Amino acid sequence: MSSQIDHLLTENRRFAPSPEFAANAVATADLYAQAHADREAFWAEQARALHWHTPFTEVLDWSNPPFAQWFADGELNVAYNCLDRHVEAGAGDRVALLWEGEPGDERRITYAELTDEVRRVANVLTDLGVEQGDRVAIYLPMIPEAIAAMLAVARLGAIHSVIFGGFSADSLRTRIDDAGAKLVITSDGGYRKGRVSPLKPAVDQALADRGNGPQGTVEHVLVVRRTENEVGWTEGRDIWWHDTVPQASADHVAQPFPAENPLFILYTSGTTGKPKGILHTSGGYLTQATFTNRVAHDLHPETDVFWCTADIGWITGHTYVTYGPLANGATQVLYEGTPDTPHPGRWWELVEKYGVTILYTAPTAIRSFMKLGREIPQRFDLSSIRLLGSVGEPINPEAWMWYRNIIGAGTAPIIDTWWQTETGAMMISALPGVTETKPGSAQVPLPGIGVDVVDESGEHVGNGNGGLLVLTKPWPSMLRGLWGDPERFVETYWEKFQDKGYYFAGDGARLDDDGDVWFLGRVDDVMNVSGHRLSTTEIESALVGNEAVAEAAVVGASDETTGQAVVAFVIIKQSYLDAHSPEGLAGTLRQWVGEQIGPIARPRDVYIVGELPKTRSGKIMRRLLRDVAEGREVGDTTTLADTAVMSVISAQVK
Ligand code: WTA
Repeated sequence: MSSQIDHLLTENRRFAPSPEFAANAVATADLYAQAHADREAFWAEQARALHWHTPFTEVLDWSNPPFAQWFADGELNVAYNCLDRHVEAGAGDRVALLWEGEPGDERRITYAELTDEVRRVANVLTDLGVEQGDRVAIYLPMIPEAIAAMLAVARLGAIHSVIFGGFSADSLRTRIDDAGAKLVITSDGGYRKGRVSPLKPAVDQALADRGNGPQGTVEHVLVVRRTENEVGWTEGRDIWWHDTVPQASADHVAQPFPAENPLFILYTSGTTGKPKGILHTSGGYLTQATFTNRVAHDLHPETDVFWCTADIGWITGHTYVTYGPLANGATQVLYEGTPDTPHPGRWWELVEKYGVTILYTAPTAIRSFMKLGREIPQRFDLSSIRLLGSVGEPINPEAWMWYRNIIGAGTAPIIDTWWQTETGAMMISALPGVTETKPGSAQVPLPGIGVDVVDESGEHVGNGNGGLLVLTKPWPSMLRGLWGDPERFVETYWEKFQDKGYYFAGDGARLDDDGDVWFLGRVDDVMNVSGHRLSTTEIESALVGNEAVAEAAVVGASDETTGQAVVAFVIIKQSYLDAHSPEGLAGTLRQWVGEQIGPIARPRDVYIVGELPKTRSGKIMRRLLRDVAEGREVGDTTTLADTAVMSVISAQVK
């Protein structure tokens, strides 16, 4: 990490907003002053941009920290805010979704059409017994039905749990069971990398193969036909979307629900093996999603074409594909497939074709385009782009400059936005048209957000110093808890700085001489691979779940393209070592992890070693393994029980 800090300290390029951009920008410097003068009044004003069936009179209730309530006596319907109200305001003909499938099929869906579709789906879900508070699991590719499904669940006051299509049957089962889902919405498959990638078989397996787990709660599986691959069918349980949704009535009146009615659960990796079900509620979440999408993305809904490339299986897809842009009445691109199919310029072709004006993506994508060369984007007309955004991991200054120069024609402002599944919406970002940007720094808290960098005792570190990032004030889209586990919620985020009442984010950060924030990566056992959060412990438990493995340790090693990569060190049982080649075993274990968790968790390297470095109390020293994985000289080994072990491991890895 120290080489990274040195590198960042030498970064002194600055980019002031152009006067033309500033003249038309949604954000103004005045927002900071307003939020500063009265934070709660500021958020109340943002909340009033939504439609409230029953206006709220209370803003924040923080009488029982860390359990916050925002706008608690107000009532709204989240889906009504994303759909019906735009139609009622005369914008029904505006395109909501410019969808393109990976094979090149297209659908343009207006706000009026999407509203009708969601009403139909809501009627179908009601027929299937879905009511306020019920949990619905969604396991779909990036097709318009995925968004319609989320909004239909929200419309009924029920709770969705979207599970990324890249997760395995096992991960799916854990999440379905933890939430006690009543219904699963899936599809036969989706298109990925030029092929059909089936989804329904994983659902079938998750529901069949229940081990000794609890009795299943799922009553029905609603299946969208997308790829027309053969699927297994359970009579009485499985229902085709195309047999029910088109026939359903498009009359459905959205009922109001309390602001604190749960909206969704989204599972994310923590420091233990068990994923955490992050719980978000309605009014505060939608307020901050809508506000940040408008001011940080400089969104002009009537003229912009917005494209956030995230999958709806992640928080970025929830907030900046489904909720923020639709609540703002924006037109957005939705693309099903991978960036390099059928050719490496696919994204730039889409930007040209749809005239994308705002592009929001992850540094890992930018770095892989950089590697392929500027010739590819330069073959397309990208002149429509006027703003670029980055999310998910620190963006290194080189990638930042390439993004600005090659994709943004050297003029588009870049916002580097820091936030988490837990925060629900952006927390730290420049405001385009207002902030002078710096390559590599996420910079400043958004108006109404309290941020600090502190030492282990919670004291402000001061400019020029590094420490831990904390959030000092409750915010509207904050997580309301972990599904079914209030103790873990308090323990994970609030206990560390209990005296100060700060939220501990788990990120290392540094303040520069101007007080701007630079992120340095996670300080816990969470890895960030291509902007996806993975837990070292979760992968270790998957590895030791294989009968060949005696012990395993996993580290996140820095990787030029993916930010971090999963590297596993495993001790194999002697009988397996005798019977198999090391290469064969390593390959099998990579695949095994892919099956257990999902392809994103597959280790880049699996090293078979004779021992693992442990302290006298038996704790694995991952820091030393990271040194080996990154090809560095191994650091201080004096606290090891056996100080010779690292030279043995280094030799085995070579
Ligand atoms: C990291 C994604 C640096 C960080 C929205 C955080 C970032 C974790 C940035 C959350 C950024 C996200 N700069 N690091 N702009 N954005 N991170 O829950 O470590 O998938 O804690 O949410 O990603 O990942 P999550």
